[in-house]
Order: sequence, then C-alpha cells, then structure tokens
Amino acid sequence: MTLENVNSPLKLNNGVEIPCVGYGTFRTDPAVTAQAVKDAIQAGFRHIDTAMIYHNEEGVGQGIKASGVDRKNLFITSKLWNTDRGYESTKEAFQKSLDRLGLDYLDLYLIHWPANEKQFGPEASRINAETWRAMEELYEAGKIRAIGLSNFMPHHVAELMKTAKIKPMVDQIEVHPGWSHSEEIKKIQAMNIQVEAWGPLGGQGATVLTNPTMEKIAAAHGKTTAQVSLRWVIQQGVLPLPKSVHVNRIKENMDVFDFELSDAEMAEISALKDLGGQCKDPDEVDF
Ligand SMILES: NC(=O)c1ccc[n+]([C@@H]2O[C@H](COP(=O)([O-])OP(=O)(O)OC[C@H]3O[C@@H](n4cnc5c(N)ncnc54)[C@H](OP(=O)(O)O)[C@@H]3O)[C@@H](O)[C@H]2O)c1
Repeated sequence: MTLENVNSPLKLNNGVEIPCVGYGTFRTDPAVTAQAVKDAIQAGFRHIDTAMIYHNEEGVGQGIKASGVDRKNLFITSKLWNTDRGYESTKEAFQKSLDRLGLDYLDLYLIHWPANEKQFGPEASRINAETWRAMEELYEAGKIRAIGLSNFMPHHVAELMKTAKIKPMVDQIEVHPGWSHSEEIKKIQAMNIQVEAWGPLGGQGATVLTNPTMEKIAAAHGKTTAQVSLRWVIQQGVLPLPKSVHVNRIKENMDVFDFELSDAEMAEISALKDLGGQCKDPDEVDF
C-alpha cells in the first residue's frame, strides 16, 4: 500500500486501521499539552500517543475537545505504567486513564514496559501474563479497539504468547538512527505485530539530527535530518511517533511523503552508531 500522508492507514492484525504516523507527547509539559495537541490535530495529525506516566492525559483530552475534530476520527493511545501491572490494577489504571482523557474508549492501550527478571526474578513472566489477561478482557469488553506492548523485545513477546489468548497488535520500541533495532523489528514483524518507533528523532539530547551522514542525505533530498529520520523509520514498515510542541516542526514532521530513500541510503543510516537517545535495555531497567 502506498502511504500518502500521516493518516494513510496501516492495518493491524485484528483489522483495525491505524494512521501511519502518530504525534508523541512524552516530556510535553502538562501546562502546554492541551495547546500542543490541539495544534497537532489542527495541523492534520489524527493519531496521538500518550501514557499515564507522562502526567499529561488531562491535557491530551482537553486538546482533543478543543480541536473540534470528532473523537471517532481520532486514534488515541495510552499506556499502563509499571506500578499498575497485575490483573486488577491494570483494569483500574485503564479506567483512570480513560477518566483523565475524558474518553469512553481507547483505540490502543499498551503495557509500557515488560516486568523483567532483574526486578521480579521468576515471577516476571507471571506478572506480564496476568497484566495481559486484563488487557484481553478490556479488549473483549469493547473498551479498547486494539491492545499491545511497549519495550517488549522478541523474547518477551514469545514468552507472553505462551499464555496469551489474543496476539498483541502493536509493539512500541525505541528506534532511531544509531539505535536501529533492525533484527528485533524483523522478528516482531514476522509475528504480524505492528512495530511503532518511539524516539524516532533520537529524543532530547541525541545527535541524530546533527549527524554528518544524516545531513548529507538530507541535503541530497532537499529535506531536513528530522524528515530523513522519519522516512527511514517509515520505509522499514515501522510507525514513527515524533513529538514536538512547535507548530513549524509539527508540520515539518508530517511532510515526509514526497521523497524516498534509496536502499544504499537506508543501509547507511541503519549502520550509524552511538548517536545518543535513551538506548535502554528492557531487561536491565530498574523502574
Ligand atoms: N513507549 C515508551 O517507552 C516511550 C518512551 C519515550 C517516548 N515514547 C513516545 O514516543 C514519542 C517520541 O519520542 P520522544 O518524544 O522521546 O522523542 P522524539 O520525538 O524522537 O524527539 C523529540 C525531540 O525532538 C525535538 N524535535 C521534534 N521535531 C523536530 C524537528 N523537526 N527538528 C528538530 N527538533 C525536533 C523536540 O523538541 P520540541 O518539542 O521543542 O520541538 C524534542 O526535543 C514520545 O513523545 C512518546 O509519545 C514512548
């Protein structure tokens, strides 16, 4: 399928359509979130990514209302934070997210990070399985149109699938030049799970956007390094979630459908290393 703009649909494994680029809200100050989300929607974004831990779900909800766009025409994602894992607490946390957003359903709800063995030892798998069971029930009850994972590497997904009734529709992982996760992307895609890229520009403090290789490729196409980074993500069949609170950058990040990177350029970008970003190993985090 040819993607023509940020709202060109990708089809998830349950048939639900998701706009192929989403608007990120991590580190968006709650005080400016409503305005930023309204700006993003009015610029044309229909897909918004938030999370309980961003402490800005209220602002996202206000921005949605202020945008004047019918909620049915938006795709809204939130995520279950780590302290809310478990069967009962997942259901409670989901309802609290809905209440803060002022919505009566979500398009996508994700487990933000897998419980890992470093923190939970042999209990980690059971905690993830119980959390997923609650997600499945919320999905079956029609409160969420699609359910998925975040920061689950292929081995975490495989472990979850031993007990899952419903296959996750999405896995959102960190992907940007310098942290390409190429093998993991292919493995997750082979399971028919849509990969989303968080930090697709490298996030705060990264050197992706000033890297000389990125600058050379951007100049060759008359685009910015941010646009090249997003294009590199999209051409791998991955769905990027760029965040900006500036209207000019929001529009710049949408304008990535009038050029194509060659196979050589894709490979050159994929080979870049050490450009910063969070680069966290989900098996090693202690939060
Ligand atoms: N699942 C997870 O664990 C997880 C973790 C992190 C993030 N996420 C999601 O993924 C989204 C994106 O990740 P991220 O916010 O960490 O990083 P990002 O989108 O890669 O980068 C955002 C940074 O780049 C700047 N920026 C945006 N557009 C730009 C442009 N065209 N030119 C130059 N600078 C630009 C932004 O500044 P301004 O805002 O000042 O423009 C901000 O500092 C998040 O917002 C969140 O929704 C998920």
